[in-house]
Amino acid sequence: MKKGRFEYLGVLVLVVAAVVVALQFLQPGAPPISWVIRIAALMGYFCIFGAIVTSAYLRQMVRWFGRPFLKVHHTLSIAGLVLVTIHPLAVAWQALSLRVFIPAVDSWYSFFALGGRPAWYLLGVGALAAVLRGVIGKKWRLLHALNYLAFWLATVHGILIGTSVQNWAMRLVFGAMALGVLAVFVQKRISTRRRD
Ligand code: HEM
Ligand code: HEM
Repeated sequence: MKKGRFEYLGVLVLVVAAVVVALQFLQPGAPPISWVIRIAALMGYFCIFGAIVTSAYLRQMVRWFGRPFLKVHHTLSIAGLVLVTIHPLAVAWQALSLRVFIPAVDSWYSFFALGGRPAWYLLGVGALAAVLRGVIGKKWRLLHALNYLAFWLATVHGILIGTSVQNWAMRLVFGAMALGVLAVFVQKRISTRRRD
């Protein structure tokens, strides 16, 4: 197996992290807890995007990063899950309440604006289904596909209430990422049908 290429992934993550940290300087005077909330959210969101995109490039992962798909997918998905868990924990710390984990159902707007809450549970179910795929059997993929829904909910949530996303450049980036994930969803459905 080729060695060293995995570092490309590390460099990519570092570049994204530098941009994410730089974005925080656009909000001078924000308390440190806001930095934790936003940096964890953005980095987690980008890692999850990476986990989804890699699923469309199973064979290319070896060529690009010198590692099999699952190694790259695990690295990005675990980093993403840890970060998007630190994110609401920091929100709970700031609010001094664990209620921030309860999905809001009082209106469609608050459901989507606070859509990170249901997204967090969907990501949990999706990841658990992958870990237990040996026990669940073929249907695990159905549960794992909840990751797509989680990503789209998180996109709307970020666009509606994310401080760093209150500008057209970031909204465009988020919109493009959501469309990219739609392309992966469609492509995976087509390629699965071809294999059947
Ligand atoms: C944030 C967490 C994760 C996200 C967002 C994610 C996302 C995805 C997506 C979108 C797919 C394509 C599924 C489809 O269209 O049918 C996929 C495939 C897959 N994922 Fe994950 N995943 C995550 C975590 C995990 C974990 C923890 C594992 C293993 C324990 C895992 C193992 C797999 C496997 C084996 C595939 C099948 C690849 C194939 O043959 O098509 N994933 N993942
Ligand atoms: C219980 C779960 C969650 C809670 C309570 C929550 C809460 C929040 C809050 C209060 C903000 C606004 C922060 C600010 O602008 O200062 C925010 C932003 C954000 N959240 Fe969440 N969220 C949750 C889950 C998620 C998940 C699972 C994701 C991604 C998969 C996510 C992605 C984002 C993003 C990208 C932003 C924008 C950050 C920024 O503007 O820099 N959130 N969230």
